[in-house]
Amino acid sequence: MMSTIQRVGVVGGGQMGAGIAEVCARAGLDTVVCETGAAAARAARERLVHSLDRAVERGKATRAERDDALARLVFSGSLDDLADRQLVVEAVPEDPALKAEVFAALDKAVEDPDAILATNTSSVPVMRLGMATGRADRVVGLHFFNPVPVMPLVEVVPSLHTSAQTLARVEEFATSVLGRTTVRSQDRAGFVVNALLVPYLLAAIRMAESGFATAADIDAGMERGCAHPMGPLRLADLIGLDTVAAIADSLYAEFKEPLYAPPPLLQRMVEAGLLGRKSGRGFHRYG
Ligand code: CAA
Repeated sequence: MMSTIQRVGVVGGGQMGAGIAEVCARAGLDTVVCETGAAAARAARERLVHSLDRAVERGKATRAERDDALARLVFSGSLDDLADRQLVVEAVPEDPALKAEVFAALDKAVEDPDAILATNTSSVPVMRLGMATGRADRVVGLHFFNPVPVMPLVEVVPSLHTSAQTLARVEEFATSVLGRTTVRSQDRAGFVVNALLVPYLLAAIRMAESGFATAADIDAGMERGCAHPMGPLRLADLIGLDTVAAIADSLYAEFKEPLYAPPPLLQRMVEAGLLGRKSGRGFHRYG
């Protein structure tokens, strides 16, 4: 099956949304990024331009490819600009109520009856988002990894209502058009990767919290001792501590297992605005 998806939309231009939009535009797709207003749309554009410039600096894209990608992107402050999209990927913050609201709004805004509405959630049930629309058979999880332009994986998550055709279309899209590797997961909080990764990150945070070892030593241990590209605290900082806390909340709500419970230190850091790399400070300092 050849992908017929040419016009895509991304809702949310944060680190995940901007990354997904970058990958789509670089794959030759006409891409609209929707943010909450003009200022947020400008910030999303800056984030994306910064990443494209970095790709050029590192020899991963030519200047012409960068310019072509930018020419395929439109940044908008309104979901109305998604009316003619064939695929929309939602990438707003990991808040179940907010995501459900966005899906209800997308159901009204996106006019093509064949259009697919996908979510980049890591932990909110895809079913719940499908049920916020009148087209749960065309709602599916497409979960990218951070940093999106660099990480080749997409988790594909059908809900109990997702049709076989929707699943086949997004898998074809992710592999043939975006050049990604897909794994399929059932619709359980955390899917495959975060169900394994998040308990590990939380264990590292508990280790730092108890004074068992310093953040620098915990990270050095996993980087130098296990050849991980980043230690767990630096990785939590990259993901965003608010996002890690939100995923842990969803996992804990779903499974009620102590290993998923967010440690108090993580909650306090989020309350303090220490969100990791994006805020300049988390377990480490940046910038
Ligand atoms: N397009 C294409 N390639 C790009 C790029 C772009 N926009 N920006 C950077 N790159 C490439 C660089 O060229 C470089 O490749 P080479 O090594 O071949 O030159 C590579 O990406 C790394 O770039 P940098 O060295 O500039 O990046 P960095 O030091 O800032 O980051 C890292 C390194 C890739 C993040 C690495 O440390 C890593 O792999 N860390 C682990 C990341 C990880 O585990 N991610 C999963 C998070 S979990 C998640 O996302 C799921 C969830 O729901 C929470």
